[in-house]
Amino acid sequence: MSETLDLIKMTSDAASEFEIALGSVRANPTPDAVEALRLLFIGRKGKVTLLMEGLRHASKEQRPIAGKTINTLKQQIEEAMSSLKEASANWALDEKLKQTPLDISLPIDHMAPQGSLHPVSLMRRELLREFRRLGFSVFDGPEADFDFYNFSALNIPEYHPARDMQDTFYLREQPNLLLRTHTSNIQIHCMLNERPPLRIVAPGRVFRCDSDPTHTPMFHQIEAFVVDKNISFGHMKGVIDSFMKAIFGSSMKTRLRPSFFPFVEPGAEMDLQCVQCSGKGCRLCKNTGWLEVGGCGMIHPNVFESVDYDTDTWSGFAFGFGIDRMAMLKYKLTDLRPMFEGSYSYLGQFSRYT
Ligand code: PHE
Repeated sequence: MSETLDLIKMTSDAASEFEIALGSVRANPTPDAVEALRLLFIGRKGKVTLLMEGLRHASKEQRPIAGKTINTLKQQIEEAMSSLKEASANWALDEKLKQTPLDISLPIDHMAPQGSLHPVSLMRRELLREFRRLGFSVFDGPEADFDFYNFSALNIPEYHPARDMQDTFYLREQPNLLLRTHTSNIQIHCMLNERPPLRIVAPGRVFRCDSDPTHTPMFHQIEAFVVDKNISFGHMKGVIDSFMKAIFGSSMKTRLRPSFFPFVEPGAEMDLQCVQCSGKGCRLCKNTGWLEVGGCGMIHPNVFESVDYDTDTWSGFAFGFGIDRMAMLKYKLTDLRPMFEGSYSYLGQFSRYT
């Protein structure tokens, strides 16, 4: 009986000793301190292990009571030890982090390669920025469109060569459905959807059966048009000139040459002073000093009639040119085709403009 009482008393002493030791190890859970604590209580010669062994001397009746008390303590200690182990691992990690600060001297070529914008995207972005600055809004239209929007409403008659199968991609699915040959179809969509005054810019992909160093079956155009009261040819010339100066620098010169497009009257060809020789004459401009960049003119009354705009009230101008061609001139490229072949090394050259 007395041995049992002693055992229970010793167990409760060991429990409070453990509580105290646990507190101090927890405050600084180094792996050594944690291991020492374990050995001290539940190691081969630990206090609790010895108490277990002492059970042998207890009487048969009392042994279960003392045994239960010691076992409970042992379990509590084991639980505490396992949470201490975790604290100790965290402590070790903290120590390691303190010792090895972030290495900011890692060579930069270990980083992922950086992409760049496609020359057409770069050019389009710059063109749109300048048009917005001049007060234009962006409008979009379909790439696969009906004959009406791409041709008829633009005063392009039935027998016009542009409608020929050799120039235009027609779609099998529906009669009169085709891939637009220019962004001028957006003029019609826009005028039917909105009311004037309009100041619109519309970039997009266009398609023609054509392929050589300066022509690809798909390319990009940008269309700009204005519809308002008392719009004159002079307004158009002013917009084109200030726009080209914004893109190519203030010394850039432009000129308009009489030309014909069914949807404008009068119509003109827009020329840019040669970007290579500044007008002196070279191979690029075939010694003329000028480069042809697009078409323009006053919107034809027949176009206004096809969208039901009163031609006594409204007048307007339109112009369109190739974004890809503009990019070739701006970035001094000689071949249009690699633009659409997707080679990384070719496209990577444009990262400096991004
Ligand atoms: N749509 C014409 C073309 O693709 C360009 C143009 C646009 C001409 C607007 C006049 C007015 O060649």
